[in-house]
Amino acid sequence: MSKPTRVRLVEVGPRDGLQNEQQLVPAAVKLELIDRLGACGLKTIEATAFVSPKWVPQMADAAELMHSLNRRPGVAYPVLVPNMKGYEAALAAGAREIAVFGAASEAFSQKNINCSIAESLDRFRPVVAAAREANVTVRGYVSCVLGCPYQGAVASSAVADVAWRLFEMGCHDVSLGDTIGVGTPGATAAMIEAVARRVPLEKLAGHFHDTYGMAIANICAALEMGVAVFDASVAGLGGCPYAAGASGNVATEDVVWLMRGLGIETGVDLAALAETGAWISRQLGRETGSKTARALLAKR
Ligand code: HMG
Ligand code: MG
Repeated sequence: MSKPTRVRLVEVGPRDGLQNEQQLVPAAVKLELIDRLGACGLKTIEATAFVSPKWVPQMADAAELMHSLNRRPGVAYPVLVPNMKGYEAALAAGAREIAVFGAASEAFSQKNINCSIAESLDRFRPVVAAAREANVTVRGYVSCVLGCPYQGAVASSAVADVAWRLFEMGCHDVSLGDTIGVGTPGATAAMIEAVARRVPLEKLAGHFHDTYGMAIANICAALEMGVAVFDASVAGLGGCPYAAGASGNVATEDVVWLMRGLGIETGVDLAALAETGAWISRQLGRETGSKTARALLAKR
């Protein structure tokens, strides 16, 4: 498979980026972030999650947020849903794209969504069926594809199995999540090769957290394999509340810089994105986590 000439970026900052923030971020700030990201040219912006507010308090304003969203033409605003209750709430709030989220690790599945992998798939199946019936697009996530904070190693065959089940139940793409950022390029390539034997490569997305600083290297490995969809978080925000110590996703700015250098199109205005990352970081009382943004902003 040859390297793609264009990649689709899935901006997950408003959801994955903010879900772990201890201090509640006002809905108005989240809405401004989403709108600014849209203005930067991002076409898929994961807006929020319809999960239990007891489990993830930061996402408690999901319905309010979706009702107030300034929907830009041509931009998709997917939301996470863990079950039918979340799906119904998301639909009522106007969501047109959803994502169900499972794991390749039993231990992580229990900690994150309080059920086994098999139970989670049984839970997702009617959600995916209902969504497809309503013309709502569904993404499937697989967490812990390169390691689990609770059980350690995760076999690529387990990743491929869950990815296949999500795909065959009707997920339009399957995002492979290195939840705790422990992957390295060789392991990434081997995992993708194993998954691509079961799920068409063009249906796969890479979701790399940058805990060990390997996310960009892993993206390069995935690109070489032919993966053309990558998740990223502006300013490198984030972490998972059920994966202690995990840092944010790879910074979107860093991915755009990488792609620009490789001559691969993203459609994103990098200068505007760096400003947006600096702005949300100021709202959170810190510096941007994107090295690219820091370098660009220092030059002005
Ligand atoms: P549970 O406690 O087993 O749920 O949680 P339950 O069905 O027994 O219900 C218990 C209570 O929760 C009930 O309320 C339900 O109504 C309520 P009560 O009667 O006690 O007042 N409830 C809900 N409320 C709102 N929205 C819902 C919902 N469902 C039940 N959808 C559950 C199970 C899945 C709900 C819970 O474990 C949960 O919400 N987990 C979400 C955890 C999460 O959001 N993690 C972060 C996202 S995943 C991630 O970051 C990884 C990713 O980025 C990829 C990667 O990096 O690998 C995607
Ligand atoms: Mg994640």
